[in-house]
Amino acid sequence: MKKILLPSGLLLLLLSGCTNSRREKGPASMVAGKDWPVYGGNRQGNRYSPLRQIDLNNVKDLQVAWTYNSADSPRTDNPGRREQHEIQCQPIVVNGILYGTNARLKLFALDAATGKEIWKFDPFKEGRPRFNANRGVVYWENGDDRRILYTAGSNLYAVNAETGLAIESFGIKGKVDLHEGLSINFDASKLSVTATTPGAIFHNTLILGSTVSELGDAAPGYVRGFDVVTGKLNWTFHTVPLPGEPGYDTWPKDAYKMIGATNNWSGLTVDEKRGAVYFGTGSPASDFYGGGREGANLFSDCIISLQAETGKLNWYYQTIHHDLWDRDMPCPPNLVTVRHNGKMVDAVAQAGKDGCIYVLDRDSGTSLFPVEDRPVPMNALPGEHPWPTQRYPVKPAPFTNQIFTEADITDISPEAHAYIKKLFDQTTHDNKFTPPTEQGTLLYGYSGGAEWGGNAVDSDGILYQNGNNALWELQMVSMEARKKEIAALSKGNGLYIANCAACHGPDRKGNGKEIPELLTIGSRLKKDEIAGIVKSGQGRMPSFQGISQDDRNAIVDFLLNVKVKPWEIAAEHRDTGSAARGGGNKGAARAATGLFPYKPEYISKLWEKVTDQDGYPAVKPPWGTLNAIDLNTGDYIWRVPLGEFPELTKKGIPPTGTESYGGPLATAGGLIFIAATRDEMIRAFDKKTGKIVWQYQLPAGGFATPVTYEVDGKQYVVIAAGGARGLKPGGTYIAFALPGNKEGKQ
Ligand code: HEC
Repeated sequence: MKKILLPSGLLLLLLSGCTNSRREKGPASMVAGKDWPVYGGNRQGNRYSPLRQIDLNNVKDLQVAWTYNSADSPRTDNPGRREQHEIQCQPIVVNGILYGTNARLKLFALDAATGKEIWKFDPFKEGRPRFNANRGVVYWENGDDRRILYTAGSNLYAVNAETGLAIESFGIKGKVDLHEGLSINFDASKLSVTATTPGAIFHNTLILGSTVSELGDAAPGYVRGFDVVTGKLNWTFHTVPLPGEPGYDTWPKDAYKMIGATNNWSGLTVDEKRGAVYFGTGSPASDFYGGGREGANLFSDCIISLQAETGKLNWYYQTIHHDLWDRDMPCPPNLVTVRHNGKMVDAVAQAGKDGCIYVLDRDSGTSLFPVEDRPVPMNALPGEHPWPTQRYPVKPAPFTNQIFTEADITDISPEAHAYIKKLFDQTTHDNKFTPPTEQGTLLYGYSGGAEWGGNAVDSDGILYQNGNNALWELQMVSMEARKKEIAALSKGNGLYIANCAACHGPDRKGNGKEIPELLTIGSRLKKDEIAGIVKSGQGRMPSFQGISQDDRNAIVDFLLNVKVKPWEIAAEHRDTGSAARGGGNKGAARAATGLFPYKPEYISKLWEKVTDQDGYPAVKPPWGTLNAIDLNTGDYIWRVPLGEFPELTKKGIPPTGTESYGGPLATAGGLIFIAATRDEMIRAFDKKTGKIVWQYQLPAGGFATPVTYEVDGKQYVVIAAGGARGLKPGGTYIAFALPGNKEGKQ
């Protein structure tokens, strides 16, 4: 089958008339096909570049062209301090200038040929900083008015692209509060609202999603259109419908007055010709329990098409009904044109956290491939109403594991296998859609399947997708029981200080010699064994016969529940619901607001990635893969492990792949570039075969998506090596190019 599809970038190049001067001003200043002018590379969100100077043959010769240390200059009070936050930013390159963000959300402009800093903008010059993730920025121009729009903390900023100064006429002194327009049903002004992924431009409208809490205190996840020039809110799409709006009857009456989230946090893609914006949404609040939200819950977990000018709904496609598993749409969709039943069809492809890919007709929202509705388990927590059927896309087949079977238990060593087998025997794991339980379920789909890095699609409709096989354990607890536990913990903490801290230390660290630490006691002893030692003593430890059984239990609960967060106790004192998920700081902010519109009756007690005794994934490798999927046929072309643990490879275990965060980039030079792995490498793959043709050890993990562009005849590949995510922190942006003169000739 011969396809006569022009690479979209090339087409743009032909239409717009190529301009060589990268400093040229005016509306046509974007160098079509050479720049990387939008998040996602091109307007279709395909992380694809028509550049071909770096190709299969010469990629092995790539060298570092420049590095840019994006970290803030060392503080005088602590010069040794390094960045602890990761950089998820996929920068943009417009007219030879690279715009990106650092770990502390400062925006910068660099000469894309040299890495030399042109300016830097600090969003937190006034007010308290708030360091959320930032995945990129947006460029917009009209005549001489050129701006960068980006978010930091709970504000949207407009910055002059040439000077790096705030555009004072935008919003209030250059910024718009992301709470704008959210408090129509309940007061959301103090709830957490940020935006981690950049918005998408249609004419003079910036369409933007948001990141909100996933618990009872979630702000509404409305998708909004802001005026790029003034910052004015032009339109709002209610992702939890208001009375009279489509989808209202998929919730209990008045749900919109208390239920938030259902947000688009992962980005959007605009179809300029159709005047439509496409995006995916996440689960409703709260994660894992839907007792107060009986129904299918539109527009959660949907792929949506809106009119970009007005925010009016074109169509929706719900991938998961009444989500109880936090299976958000985790990346922006790709706009593709594929051959289907002999005809070329404009489609939208959306990958999910669960490893499924939906390929829908861009006009009608119907699936091009068969999707089956199958009955799913209905046995759920009290008050819950699981949806009786769920969707199973048949083609393309999922690119990650769907359920955990005995055959999937890790086999990297007999010890690891035995360790996971024990957990396997104690938990439920037989269906992807088993509703959460108090006993515990093992499931995929949280940090895995697809992630926020997004996917690359080549001009021939082949999609390149990195996938994670990460197994998680979820255990629920009723709010009643949780309150008792928290009360016991504070009681237990007090009793511990009174009776045990003298020897084991207030911090439970022991003395490093004959008095053992108790912080990890849960991994050595069971509850009744600890209680027994306290009651009867052991070795040089005295017995505590005088402590009542209740008090003893409270001490043991305290010792075993080191995972409790201070904010849970704060929430408890306020007698409001909150949950065991989320980082301590986030939680503290939540507890402090005292605003909990929705009080779920069950919350997660345990929500943890399952690993063996050494911290490796619980699943049989590969743990991370790179996949090439033909969206014309729905068939796989290849699948290879992505990344490795060198210490395991040395032991003779074939490369296992690792979890990956950050997406791929496809080029006309026959290459797929991707970093994202825990071995801190960036690699190039042969896009036809999946063979590694180049790799380079980054100074820190490249948990971001690389970009490519051309300046003065030379092609560059750039990645943010921000590190962190449990590994060493970084902060460098690195550019690679072929050696030789400016034209890249050797
Ligand atoms: C006078 C010092 C002292 C006090 C007070 C004390 N311990 Fe100990 N604890 C020890 C010593 C010493 C050991 C090591 C015992 C041995 O040699 O087996 C120990 C061991 C333990 C162990 C077993 C640790 C392991 O790794 O096997 C637990 C559990 C424990 N203590 C809990 C407590 C609790 C709870 C309290 C308070 C109610 C407490 N201890 C009070 C000195 C003390």
